[in-house]
Amino acid sequence: MGSLPSFDAGYAGIASALFDQVRALSRDGPGVTRASYGDVETRVLARLARTAAAEGIATSYDAAGNLWMTVPGRAPERPGVIAGSHADSVPRGGNYDGLAGIVAGLVCAIRMCRERAPPERTFTTVAFRGEESAWFGKPYLGSAALLGKLTDRDLALKHRDTGYPLRFYMREAGADPQRLVRGEPLVEPRSIAAYLELHIEQGPVLEDADRPIGIVTGIRGNFRHRAIRCIGTAGHSGAVPKRMRQDAVFAVADLLSRIEEAWDEWLLNGHDLVVTSGVLHTNADTHAPSIIPGEVWFSLEARSGSQETLDGFHRAIAAECESIGAARGVRFEFDQPIFSAPATMDGALVELLAGICAERKLAYMRVPSGAGHDAAHFANAGVPAAMVFVRNQRGSHNPDESMLIEDFMLGTDVLYAAVRAI
Ligand code: GLV
Ligand code: MN
Ligand code: MN
Repeated sequence: MGSLPSFDAGYAGIASALFDQVRALSRDGPGVTRASYGDVETRVLARLARTAAAEGIATSYDAAGNLWMTVPGRAPERPGVIAGSHADSVPRGGNYDGLAGIVAGLVCAIRMCRERAPPERTFTTVAFRGEESAWFGKPYLGSAALLGKLTDRDLALKHRDTGYPLRFYMREAGADPQRLVRGEPLVEPRSIAAYLELHIEQGPVLEDADRPIGIVTGIRGNFRHRAIRCIGTAGHSGAVPKRMRQDAVFAVADLLSRIEEAWDEWLLNGHDLVVTSGVLHTNADTHAPSIIPGEVWFSLEARSGSQETLDGFHRAIAAECESIGAARGVRFEFDQPIFSAPATMDGALVELLAGICAERKLAYMRVPSGAGHDAAHFANAGVPAAMVFVRNQRGSHNPDESMLIEDFMLGTDVLYAAVRAI
């Protein structure tokens, strides 16, 4: 492992050029937008496929529309190694969330081809579609489909902007939605020796600790409501005394502040928990400052490394809604929640990655992942999975997200050494 020479500077140039090309394809104001199963995502995959093909790497698309870029191994009969991540982004997000992992895998594959150094096991870089829940409410769509975990109900999930179902967008993108919901994996999990994903950290921990590399121990699961509806009574803002109002905005404000208090308590009790409400609005088309708000919609998401914590907190929120409903004369209508299970990374792969970092005298640390990743699906399907985090600046899921190419190449080096060692 340690005896492998690091990437020479030319590969950093290849990576930078790929990042720039994809940014140019997906630029949206200050950030990038690559909608899940959208046109830009399709064009990004085509761009990556062209680069791979020019280097002699075999490319193909699976029935979920994910792009496979494969370097055959010297022992093709043995289970292969997959490096993957996602090509989509949140609306006006950053360029590296997801893309970094695909570019890292592709750069490793290019090096294998240029140096005529095929790996022992067949090595495939998969560019997944549809990882971001921002578009259809559910994350990991491309990897879920690959592993036979997509359901008919998932195909009916509505696009955030158009309301058209996922099924429609999948077909437009050349995928075969009917085949995907048969519950049969497109690839047999036993045929995958390891799933490795490089990803930017998206949080401040590595930067704060001054370490360029993180090795992920586990991935938080979550539950998510895209739109809970609070129903009160609309009325004249001047004419109704306080005690006679059923104001939906104050009810939701009360609920959210109770949720935040409960969150503090759960943290004090040792739970791993983060909670977010972001999409929050009244019936804005007809609403006005002179109307008591009769309806509010709000999103609610909680994440934890523990399924028990997620289930318990979900029940606690339902109880708060009951109690606020009774006290304020409002009603909460819940949409169908979307659940993603927490995942644990493979112990042996974590040790392998740690050994590689130690041999290379890289400053690294083990970290749990607060964000969700396709790796969670592989781990929960029984595929040994592990992740390399690369330090990044100014967070993620925002247009200011950034990353140093030097740090990226350190992570890519770790990924390459791991692929060769497995
Ligand atoms: C994926 O980016 C997530 O929302 O965790
Ligand atoms: Mn993301
Ligand atoms: Mn991501």
